[in-house]
This record gives sequence, C-alpha cells and structure tokens, in this order.
Amino acid sequence: MISQNTIQQILSRIDIIDIVGTFVKLKKRGTNYLGLCPFHNEKTPSFTVSPSKEIYKCFGCGRSGNSISFLMEHEKYSYVESLRWLAAKYNVEIEETETSPEFKQQQQVADSLFVINNFAQQFFSKELLEKEEGISVALSYLKERGFREDTIKKFQLGYNPEARDSFTKAAVGAQFNADLLIKSGLVNERDGNKYDNYRGRIIFPIHNQSGKILGFGARIIKSNDKAPKYINTPENEIYVKSKLLYGSYFARMAIDKADECLLVEGYTDVISLHQAGIENVVASGGTSLTPDQLRLIKKYTNNLTIIYDGDNAGIKAALRGIDLALEASLNVNLVLIPDKEDPDSYLQKVGAAAFTEFVAGNKKDVILFQLGIALKDAGNDSNKKSIVVNQIAETISKINKTEDFTKQQDYIKQCSQLLKIEESGLHALVNKFIREKIGKEETRNERAAFEQASTPVSETDNEVMALFNRDEMNERAMVRSLLEFGLKEWDEHQKVVDHVFKEIEANQLEEMIDNKDLVKILNTYKAWYDNGIEPDPKNFLYHDDLAMSALVVSLMDFNYEISPNWKEHFEGHIPTREELYKEEVFSTLNYLKLRKIKRLIAENQLELEKAVDPDEQMVMVEMHQHLKSLEIELTKHLGTVIFR
Ligand code: GTP
Ligand code: MN
Repeated sequence: MISQNTIQQILSRIDIIDIVGTFVKLKKRGTNYLGLCPFHNEKTPSFTVSPSKEIYKCFGCGRSGNSISFLMEHEKYSYVESLRWLAAKYNVEIEETETSPEFKQQQQVADSLFVINNFAQQFFSKELLEKEEGISVALSYLKERGFREDTIKKFQLGYNPEARDSFTKAAVGAQFNADLLIKSGLVNERDGNKYDNYRGRIIFPIHNQSGKILGFGARIIKSNDKAPKYINTPENEIYVKSKLLYGSYFARMAIDKADECLLVEGYTDVISLHQAGIENVVASGGTSLTPDQLRLIKKYTNNLTIIYDGDNAGIKAALRGIDLALEASLNVNLVLIPDKEDPDSYLQKVGAAAFTEFVAGNKKDVILFQLGIALKDAGNDSNKKSIVVNQIAETISKINKTEDFTKQQDYIKQCSQLLKIEESGLHALVNKFIREKIGKEETRNERAAFEQASTPVSETDNEVMALFNRDEMNERAMVRSLLEFGLKEWDEHQKVVDHVFKEIEANQLEEMIDNKDLVKILNTYKAWYDNGIEPDPKNFLYHDDLAMSALVVSLMDFNYEISPNWKEHFEGHIPTREELYKEEVFSTLNYLKLRKIKRLIAENQLELEKAVDPDEQMVMVEMHQHLKSLEIELTKHLGTVIFR
C-alpha cells in the first residue's frame, strides 16, 4: 500500500483542472470550468469542474466525483493506480507500506515487466542502431523499406540478433529474474536452456497511451514458410491484447485534433503513415475490434475510418466489431486500398498527398459495404438472402436511435434499395429488433433491481432516490451544512460543530438518519474533531473509503436551490448559503427533530389504540398533546430554507 504520508503529498499537489484537463478540453466559465462530458455523448457542454471544491459534475448524465474518481472512471484505473498516476505526474516519490501479499505480488510483477521491457527496448535499439549485425541486416532492411532514422528512433524500433541468447545473457547479467523474463515473452526455455524468443527479428515495442512499453511485436526479416511473420508478447499482467491499440501513444493528440481515428492492420502501416505526417492512426493487429479498443478510440473521437487492403480476408474480422461501434455511436467508414497494396506500400508508392486524397475520396459507408459483401456471398440463394436481410436489420437496429435517428432512417432506405425489398418491410424488421433489444434490457434491469434489493444501494441510486425522498435530502443537507460550516462560529461560546453534535446527542437524532453512510460521515467528522483535527470536506473527498468519498462528492454538489420563498422575501440581493449558514444548520437539525416527533406521535398513537387502562390512556393522550405542541413549534421555525 502507498503510505499515508505519500497520499497526503499527492493530494496536496492535486489540481483538478490540470488533471481533468488532460482528458477534456475545458473553458473557464465564471468560477468553474466547462467542457464536453467525457462520459456521455453531448454537443453542448454540461460537464462542470469546480477548482475550489475540487470536484466535477455533469449536468447531462449526472456523473460526479473528484480527481481520483475521475481517473478511475475515465482511465479505468483502480484507486491505487490513480494515486500512482498522480504521483508520477506531480513528481511525488511513492513510499510503500504493507499490503495484501497477492496484490503486492501482482503489482510487483507488473512493475518488473515494465522494467524488463524498458531494458529490452534499449538493448534492441542499440543492437539495431550501433552494432554491426543490426546495421547490416536490420537497419538496412528498414531503410530499404523507406523508414527514416528519426522515425525508427521515435517508434523505438530494435533488433534481436541471430545468436541464440544475446538478449538472455544481457538480461540475466542485469540480474533479472528468470521466471519474469519468460513471462515477458522475451526469453524461452527448452530443456533447461534459456534462449532469445525473437532471434533475428526486428522489434516493434508496443506502448500504452502514456508511453510505457507493454510488450513487443517481432518481425522476421527474410520471409520463411516455417516461422510466423510476427511473434507477439504472450498475455501477461501488462500485455492484454484486447485492450491495446498499436500507436495510440503517438496518435492521441493527432486524433483529437483531426477528430478522426484511422485504423489500419499492421505496425508498419502505422509507422509509415506517421512518417508521412498522417499521425492520427492506430493498428488493431488484424483482429476484430474489442469493446475496450472502441472505448479507447471514443475517448478522442466519434469518427473511425478503417483503412484495409482491398482483397484482405481480415476485413471480415475487422467488421465483426462494427455492431459494437454503431452501438457506441461511432461513425464508421471504410477505405479499401487498391491493387493488392497495403496502406504502407500504397503510401510509399503514391506519396502522402495522393494517399490522403484517396482516403478522403473513397470512404465507404461500413453498413452498406457489409451488405454488399453479404449479398455477393449469398448470390441467388434465397435462404441466404433472407439471413442477410435479418442481419442487416439487426445491425441497423443497433444505431443509437435517439442520437442518430435520421441516420437510421437513411440506412433503411438505402439498404432496402440494395436488397430490392419494400422499405416498410425492412422498417418493420428493424423495429422488431429494437423491441427485442429493449425487452432484453428490461429483463436485465428487473433482474438487476431484484439483485439490488439484497445489496447496498449505490451512490447514483441514492441520488435518484433522493429525488423522490425529501427526508433523505434533508439528512443530506444536515450533513452537508456540518461539512461546509462546521468550523464557523455558532455563538460566542462554540462552533457550529459543537452545537450540531450537542443537538444530535441530546435528541438522539442519529437514529433519525436512515442513510447509515451519512451517519458514518458524522462519526468520522466527530472522531477527527475530537482528536484535534479540523475536518475539511477535502479530507473526505480523498478518503480511501470510496463509498464515503463518493457520498461527500454528491453532497458537495454544485446545484442547490434556494426556496422560492426566499426570492419573495428579499428584493434584489439574494443571500448566499454562506450568509445563511446558521439558518441552514438550524433548520436541517429541526427537520430531523420534527421527523423524530412525528415518529413518536405515530408510536404513541399505536400504543393508545392498544391501551385499555383509562389511566394509561390518559397519560398517552397528554403525551400526544405535548408532542403535537412540539411539532407545531418546530414547524413554525421550519420552512425557511427548503432543499430540493
Ligand atoms: P509488413 O509485411 O512488414 O509490411 O507488415 P504488415 O504489418 O504489413 O503485415 P501484414 O499486413 O501481413 O499483417 C498485419 C498485422 O497482422 C501485423 O502488423 C501483425 O500485427 C499481424 N500479423 C501478421 N502476421 C502475423 C503472424 O504471423 N502472427 C501474428 N501474431 N500476427 C501477425
Ligand atoms: Mn505491409
């Protein structure tokens, strides 16, 4: 585990604008910053970041959080990974304390693999650029293919010599653990002898989006029927094929700028296009796109252009991921490179300008293209044809209807023409698939709701419930007023916090708070305060109890509304919450007291109904009257500040 001391150092340097701004374009708007929400599709910005509160909130999709939860959601980091990312960003050295052995083990393996890969990359680059064998065999080959030295260096290409174990020797000499070397895929073992896995191959390091090396692709130099053209790192703690896109580190800025991502098949295609100044390009390695890869692309753009060899069997594989892309509202186009060339060779042949022009002028709509292929395959077989109709209807049904309604209508029209069927018939079929999909989702939701009933409700659900539940809102408002104003003065003898806890204890209000996570916040606050710490909302924001931190984030929301009554009372200047903090503390506490009294009245009434002894009854009636007068008294003071 990362030590508390380190965490404190990291947190003290956090700048949420800087962090969120790494991933989202933000514009200053008053005291806050505004941008397009990275968590849902939107055209007008509703994603708001408050530098002073150190939180963000999207008024479109409702997502909110702090710097760390942003990294967790956006980058899919764990809590600890987020801290590590921040530590690296702000140059904080990480001090570790004890942690669970398995986790530590895995973390260490991952860290070690990165170190080994880094070492290997440097070794291979040196072999390529400085050693005789590399220069004459590999560098000459790359140059012959048209790769410039600056390009080779930028992509950190390398060479693994022919000798059986030149890398293995260097790595063992550098004290790397043998098991890890095998795990990295760089070293193999046969009959107890270790040897280089990528002997005689050109090495393509594969980076993650922040530039760390996850693994390698290794290309044979002289083509050979027996050996595969490429060998890749086996899946391990850091190399997960389905999550990476080759070139994403070098392409991310350009994709953002061009608002388009080009997808090619191979490493050499990516490098070649880059060298020609077309930098918004990544490669999938020739397999169908995975949801993780689509997510990666969608972070930067909604426009995906797949550039493939014209007669390539890989097209079908690539298109397999297309339904997913449509569901994610990506606009997908396809460009087929002619004359049995691939993007790399075609570019080298015609030059950058002609290549760019060709791509721009030959974008095919991916759905229509898919239909074309399927129709050709089906020929005159009417059975096969009806399968095609069904498939295309299903694909069209995946288009997000609310966002791309006209697009969907357009496809129905064009596809029905290609299929030579009635437009209305295809329309009906598409609708059938949409209904089925919705039906499935509903079943899923019902099941989820059922499962939820026995598990704790999540924070977002709390937020939704709160819309229907004023009690919950007032519980939250009470805790929020403590968090925000606890350290302010209540009267000349005490602070707000002293008053609040006195009231809570005297009236046993804790039991009136149904949301036990709120009680947890109160107790944590009190424990800190009693120990001489002045609790700040920020202490909670970055608390490693993530449920508590998420709840505090949602409490510290941007939007609260002043009740309309206030607006009538005050002409002109509407007082801020800061000015009214005593009122707020007072009335939120009162609300809880009122709830308590209402509950007591109800209980008393039940008792009264059961009671038979007249004396007993009398006592209860008096009790009722007493409680009623308390209720009236409290109600009089209430209604000043009302939270919605
Ligand atoms: P060059 O032939 O050097 O231009 O490479 P290329 O990238 O054009 O190769 P190709 O078009 O044959 O393959 C495209 C991509 O598919 C490669 O970049 C690899 O990611 C992958 N690939 C091709 N052949 C193999 C193979 O034999 N094994 C594995 N694992 N992947 C391969
Ligand atoms: Mn090629």
